[in-house]
Amino acid sequence: MPAIYSEAAICHELIEQLSSARQKTDDLFAIVRSDSIYERPIPERHRIVFYVGHLEAFDWNLLHDRVLGLKTFHPEFDRLFAFGIDPVGGGLPADQPSQWPSLAAVKEYVRQSRSSLDEKLADALDSNSAGRDGFPLSTLLNVAIEHRLMHAETLAYMLHQLPLDRKIRQAESADVVTPPVVHTQVNRSIEIPAGAVTLGLSRPGSTFGWDNEFSAHTVNVPAFAIDQYKVTNRQYLDFIAAGGYKTRLLWITDGTETDGAETDAAEKDWKWISQRGISHPAFWKRDGDQWLYRTMFNDVPLPPDWPVYVSQAEAKAYANWAGKSLPTEAEWQRAAYSTHNGDERPYPWGIKAPSNEFGNFDFARWNPTPVNAFPGGQSAFGVQGMLGNGWEWTSTEFSPFPGFEPFPFYRGYSADFFDGQHFVMKGGSARTAACMLRPTFRNWFQAHYQFIYTGFRCVSR
Ligand code: AVJ
Ligand code: FE
Repeated sequence: MPAIYSEAAICHELIEQLSSARQKTDDLFAIVRSDSIYERPIPERHRIVFYVGHLEAFDWNLLHDRVLGLKTFHPEFDRLFAFGIDPVGGGLPADQPSQWPSLAAVKEYVRQSRSSLDEKLADALDSNSAGRDGFPLSTLLNVAIEHRLMHAETLAYMLHQLPLDRKIRQAESADVVTPPVVHTQVNRSIEIPAGAVTLGLSRPGSTFGWDNEFSAHTVNVPAFAIDQYKVTNRQYLDFIAAGGYKTRLLWITDGTETDGAETDAAEKDWKWISQRGISHPAFWKRDGDQWLYRTMFNDVPLPPDWPVYVSQAEAKAYANWAGKSLPTEAEWQRAAYSTHNGDERPYPWGIKAPSNEFGNFDFARWNPTPVNAFPGGQSAFGVQGMLGNGWEWTSTEFSPFPGFEPFPFYRGYSADFFDGQHFVMKGGSARTAACMLRPTFRNWFQAHYQFIYTGFRCVSR
């Protein structure tokens, strides 16, 4: 937003955005049949009812006292719903539905916190208030909006795993037409010449960014070649048919390690698939001698030209099999945003704001499209589908950029995940809001997490 707008005008606009983000998350809970709100579709995550409370507790905890001088009305729920879970090392939650409050009580908390925040937010616009930590109200509102929109995506992943007979089917967005399919017989490699690329946001700037996006810095990237498209279900099927999930060597990080501890670390992906009996992507389902694909509301014959969605460990095994690698965050960034003359652009396709012509994002669909459906979105180097239609794994561990400072009002947002277990994902999916398609946005998950809308493409160096 241009600097000529006052903080009050910006906040006014952000309050509208918060209200439309609330509509998005309310609509998602409408997918869940009323007898299924205490289900836990993903073993590593909380039951669905937690998220009804979480979205409001987050906004309330962020804003009520710090900027709005409100007294809390339900401290127990403020704490109960404050943070989600992401257990490392295989530990799973074991709570029972009866340990959670009634849906009616949670909904009442939602109603009350929204209405007192909204009333005070309207007043606060007149007083140009800054937060206690010196951050303007607009920053805190952006945090609330993007936090909620991220959950609009993570909730979609979660509801994707809910059995079909527990869901109330929703329509696709009416105005969305998927371009005709041209089969992707080849996924050729595109040469990216050596050059510099910018990672991160410069401080201070007019663009909102999370703590992990700061600060801007330049990385020199040697020449490499990258797949023109994301790896498709058809390509991944070849890997499975070639015994990919049965070939131990493809799943170990460095076969030369001999020391005990290092061998353990090198073996962790192989142990993971062996112990859990994993033999295919979580979105696939075997039906006699054919594969089905579990879309949001249907099981359909495997769509060969859709991107495959897999964990990072599965993506790495495929890349090993193909004799290639996953891109680093800097390589991905360069393929997406750099140009032949060294300039960088705000979107792979140039400077135009995201729209239906450039990719599958911003809640356009519940499911992927073929990987080659949006030639209009290609990067300057001709790499297609880098924004939308599924995040892409990188090989880069999620770690701070130089100059990283946690937000004082949310110290753990990123820092809690700088643990060597989480890896950077770039791009976005059909369920990623347009505001998070900015070049510096970084997403991350654990290497063994299979339930996200995340695929990959390979590089060779
Ligand atoms: C950035 C998507 C990895 O869902 O774990 C939501 C976002 N953090 N609530 C997550 C988040 C706290 C986060 N990701
Ligand atoms: Fe959250």
